[in-house]
Amino acid sequence: MTRLFGVIGHPIGHSLSPAMHRAALAAMRLDARYDPYDVPPEFLPPMLEALMLAGVEGLNVTVPLKEAVRPLLDRLDPPAAAIGAVNTIVARRRRLIGFNTDGVGFRQALRELGWRPRPATALVLGAGGAARAVAWELARVRGSRVILANRTGARARRLASWLTRRLPGADVVVSPWRRAPAEAADLIVNATSVGMRPSDPPPVEPRRVRPGTLVYDLVYHRTTALVRETRRRGCIAADGRSMLLYQGAESLRLWLGVRPPVAPMRRALEGLLPRG
Ligand code: ATR
Repeated sequence: MTRLFGVIGHPIGHSLSPAMHRAALAAMRLDARYDPYDVPPEFLPPMLEALMLAGVEGLNVTVPLKEAVRPLLDRLDPPAAAIGAVNTIVARRRRLIGFNTDGVGFRQALRELGWRPRPATALVLGAGGAARAVAWELARVRGSRVILANRTGARARRLASWLTRRLPGADVVVSPWRRAPAEAADLIVNATSVGMRPSDPPPVEPRRVRPGTLVYDLVYHRTTALVRETRRRGCIAADGRSMLLYQGAESLRLWLGVRPPVAPMRRALEGLLPRG
């Protein structure tokens, strides 16, 4: 019987997940489908139930349902519970389990660049859902310092107190957005939406970034000014495609119980996104 997977969100037409997951399922020669489902928030409970009755085994969850879906699930795995957002649902014996694979995706994306978890100073730009997942991963590493900078300072302060409540002993500080200490960081992560438009300037002044700093920009639509200009300064810098890839690969691993091949997934993504 054909195994069923998919992604729910609203709108869903722009999602890159179907192409990425279909490429993996085809490479694995599985009799399986992966379909996008447009689910307006007000219809989430009946549509989720309908998908489960139809035999869907696994779903990705995207904007704006990542938080709203939580009370409809039987259980959350610890990262999803901590971060407060679900991006993957596993249906097992009529029970729905919520996961968040962004942290794993982020860790593997950094690993690909040669970064190993170690005590370091990380500057995280942003204070939305993406920043929360990233800051959580970084603050968990013992001995690390996480500096949060966000245009709206109050949001950064809220994220900092959320982190220190959940991770007692974590070293988390807030910096003013305009004076973010780029020069003090071993790792800089852009988790804002600055860079999504081609005309966006870098969210920090590249001149202030030390050569050798690792720069990861969660924006995946293009090679951003931040990535381009810090590379020119001798930094290792990458865009968010690898995180997108690895969070998706982790969803498939949870559904299938085996690691999917990432090369065809990466090719599918690259085929949909512009180079440079
Ligand atoms: P997500 O859940 O994807 O992280 P979000 O919650 O909308 O999305 O967060 C977007 C982030 O980008 C926020 O940190 C936002 O800053 P504010 O909290 O001040 O809104 C940041 N952001 C968006 N546009 C920005 C801009 N032009 N300059 C600086 N930061 C910006």
